[in-house]
Amino acid sequence: MYFSSRFLIKLIFLLKLNSMLKITSLLELKKVRALSVVSAILFSLSALNNAFAQDGSSQQAANPNPEQISAKHLGVASCAASTCHGSTVPFVESNVLQNEFRTWNELDPHARAYQTLLTPESKKIARNLGLASAETADVCLSCHADNVALASHGDDFDISEGVGCETCHGGAENYIESHTKASHQENLNAGLSKTENPTVRAELCVSCHIGNHTDRKITHTIMGAGHPRLSFELNTFSSIQPAHYQVDDDYIARKGDHNELQIWAIGQLVASEQLLTNIKAFPRSGLFPELVHMDCLGCHQPMSKVDWAPNPLTDLAAGSLRYNDAHLLMSYQLAKTVSPTLANEVLSNTQAFLNSGVSSSSSDKLASKLLNNIERIRTSLQDSPLSQEQGNAILNALINNGLSASHQGYASAEQSAMAINSVLRVVIASQGDGSNKEALLDGVETMFKGVNNPERYRPEVFVSGLRKIQASVK
Ligand code: HEC
Ligand code: HEC
Ligand code: HEC
Ligand code: HEC
Repeated sequence: MYFSSRFLIKLIFLLKLNSMLKITSLLELKKVRALSVVSAILFSLSALNNAFAQDGSSQQAANPNPEQISAKHLGVASCAASTCHGSTVPFVESNVLQNEFRTWNELDPHARAYQTLLTPESKKIARNLGLASAETADVCLSCHADNVALASHGDDFDISEGVGCETCHGGAENYIESHTKASHQENLNAGLSKTENPTVRAELCVSCHIGNHTDRKITHTIMGAGHPRLSFELNTFSSIQPAHYQVDDDYIARKGDHNELQIWAIGQLVASEQLLTNIKAFPRSGLFPELVHMDCLGCHQPMSKVDWAPNPLTDLAAGSLRYNDAHLLMSYQLAKTVSPTLANEVLSNTQAFLNSGVSSSSSDKLASKLLNNIERIRTSLQDSPLSQEQGNAILNALINNGLSASHQGYASAEQSAMAINSVLRVVIASQGDGSNKEALLDGVETMFKGVNNPERYRPEVFVSGLRKIQASVK
């Protein structure tokens, strides 16, 4: 049975409401959706070609994603035998669930990603872009399927399987035979991707959910043709992807303990790095940087909605074009706790970049400086995971920052809501007693109500949710 992804998320949200007092009920974000109105707009094919013509990729990701490695991809069927990952029920006496295929096939939107390219919505996007069809165009397949080079297609490879096991876990050619008997390290050596590592996972997910500057490019031309707006937060998306794995004691013994706070933090830093790298690598579009890197709502909102306020992160005047600074803002909030000295540098470099980035030719240099700061924070975090006290400090920083929502755009409020929810899940889980959980849940829900529609952002509702949260985590 097929649930559309939107339906799935709504379902999770309602289920959570019914289990009010369980700690797991903190969440689930009713997925904040794209700018919805998309009437036809015809950008010429040449504009699209120009955008892809020069590949300014200087920077190579530290951890190559599966499609950049040459092992053969054997297809989902080769993982899905009933004694392997295709069981109908979880195996009891096994390290892994073994019903991963079923979860993916029946519940996970990734299994439908190719089918999406056959819908009327996709046909319209393809028409607007002048493509013969969406399902044959690399520009769509690169994120909606396992679009590896022809030489990496195994005998049973089938592009219509969408975003499948090997898209995330790596081509199975060299580990398929051995991986049930070998150690985890041996499997990694044979080409299994280290997806339990937050940085590796973040680089993987972000390459499609934000887009990268090499094989998974997304542009405002594609958005203008009708593609939904993308937004991403690693921990939230990891928890709403229907789980085909279980982080239990056995998992932690084999793969280490990466709690949700760590996953959120690394996700923000990697997203910031990807944004800055993309800004440097994409060709400018006329007077402007590639618009997909900017704040969508900076241009797309009714003129009658006059709610501009000064933003302490920039000196930009009213009416200025803005980058989408949401991940940078989160990275700064994180830096204040993780490394107060580096945080000052992050702040001044973020300000310098945002203040002059859009129009100035020195934008690349400013982006590089900031990239360097953020990489340093990420490296330090990899070596020493965040503590509980740091979690509390980050939560306070996020709430205090959010309370001054008048000077934030929608994208920042949306990221703040996902961040606060992710951090709360860790901070509260460790506090044990059941006090105030109902009030807390009410606050979380109110906060999300404020941001659940990009076109009807209600800062006052978002802020009242934060006040409730603040009062109940004391
Ligand atoms: C190869 C590209 C690709 C990769 C890698 C990828 N995704 Fe996705 N993801 C997609 C596409 C495309 C969709 C939309 C599928 C559809 O509805 O057609 C999607 C949908 C989702 C959704 C559902 C969102 C919604 O609005 O309902 C979640 C959650 C998600 N992905 C999480 C993740 C996480 C977590 C990772 C990393 C572990 C990840 N994705 C990696 C391409 C990718
Ligand atoms: C950089 C990666 C990327 C590229 C390139 C890309 N998409 Fe997507 N697309 C996504 C992701 C990720 C989602 C899911 C967004 C979410 O729900 O958060 C998505 C969602 C969609 C949806 C909405 C699906 C739904 O469930 O409502 C359509 C339609 C779509 N894409 C069509 C296309 C077409 C057609 C192309 C080629 C012109 C294309 N996409 C190129 C990543 C990409
Ligand atoms: C969108 C990316 C994505 C797709 C598609 C995907 N996985 Fe996973 N998978 C993950 C992530 C993330 C984890 C958790 C991190 C880890 O343990 O590596 C994971 C974990 C696992 C685990 C480890 C469980 C454990 O206890 O160690 C198995 C086994 C697995 N996946 C099998 C599959 C199979 C089989 C498919 C296809 C039917 C599949 N996955 C599709 C991302 C994905
Ligand atoms: C610098 C201003 C600017 C920014 C930033 C911007 N856009 Fe646009 N957008 C435009 C313009 C101009 C058009 C063309 C409008 C027209 O022709 O009617 C457009 C068109 C569109 C359309 C098609 C609307 C239609 O009438 O068919 C969509 C959808 C869209 N943009 C989405 C986005 C998304 C998503 C983002 C953020 C990632 C974004 N835009 C960022 C200026 C912007």
